[in-house]
Amino acid sequence: MLKIDIKNELAQKAELVNEKIDFLLAHWTGIPKRLADAIKYVLVAPGKRIRAAIVLLTCELVCGEVNDDALTAAAAIEMVHTYSLVHDDLPAMDDDDFRRGRPSCHKAFDEATAILAGDALLTMAFEIISKDIRTPEKSVEMAQILAMAAGPSGMIAGQMYDMQAENTKQDAQMLELIHINKTAKMFQASVCLGAAAGSANETQKKSLRQFGMNLGLAFQIADDILDIVSDTVTLGKTAGKDAQQGKSTYPALYGLEESRKKAEKMVQAGIESLDAFGDKAGILKSLAFEIIDRTK
Ligand code: IPE
Ligand code: IPE
Ligand code: MG
Ligand code: MG
Ligand code: MG
Repeated sequence: MLKIDIKNELAQKAELVNEKIDFLLAHWTGIPKRLADAIKYVLVAPGKRIRAAIVLLTCELVCGEVNDDALTAAAAIEMVHTYSLVHDDLPAMDDDDFRRGRPSCHKAFDEATAILAGDALLTMAFEIISKDIRTPEKSVEMAQILAMAAGPSGMIAGQMYDMQAENTKQDAQMLELIHINKTAKMFQASVCLGAAAGSANETQKKSLRQFGMNLGLAFQIADDILDIVSDTVTLGKTAGKDAQQGKSTYPALYGLEESRKKAEKMVQAGIESLDAFGDKAGILKSLAFEIIDRTK
């Protein structure tokens, strides 16, 4: 079997996502200049585009190509994710001055503009899902996937638990609940959006959902580990922030070594749910390992 160059695969997919985002922003009219500048500032910044790449790779896995619906859904999830970062960095939340290698939105602009840019990105995602997806059935399916993952019993729930858990000692169950909600559900949504774009069947969707959840949990554990072992320049965001803010993280509860083992176990479990796809799933499997081996 050919060895997969996952970094290169991801870079190619990120490029497609960036082109789609540039196109959408260039054609979006009627946005006040300062707001448009802030939206562009955060969205065009060098994010890894990992969730968007997962949409494209999953679509490719189930139907053999990246289609237009996958590109639209990829841009949409990147918009929702970027909004979540802008709000996560606000002084009332994690109070982080640095994001994607630049001053965070409220630093480069101001708090009100950052709040509104986040609001705008969230709304824009649902606008493109409702306007640009080729069939009404898929459009509704995708809107539901995204809303449930990002909403008050998904990512926003996770952010709420995360805030409430600051400077308190949480048990394993609560920690998992925080991580599943604030991060894993958006990864699961990425996989599900790709599956919807590629018209996966119900059996395929079930396996992919399981994969997405494990992948997302492993991703957030890796994020917690990197916050400790990496540095601000490499991460493009402030390192050491979690301990400073008394965040409930995997390393805080289990230590670094045990956290690494847990992330690896999740990746293994995720990979097993892709077995039915055979060799074709090689890229998603490599991606799962890359997610815990990454340096930023
Ligand atoms: C950061 O996500 C927020 C988490 C859920 C840990 P990413 O690490 O994917 O951030 P970008 O998009 O590359 O900036
Ligand atoms: C954020 O988790 C998850 C989101 C929903 C944005 P973190 O607070 O750990 O993300 P970073 O480390 O600031 O990127
Ligand atoms: Mg946070
Ligand atoms: Mg944060
Ligand atoms: Mg973090």
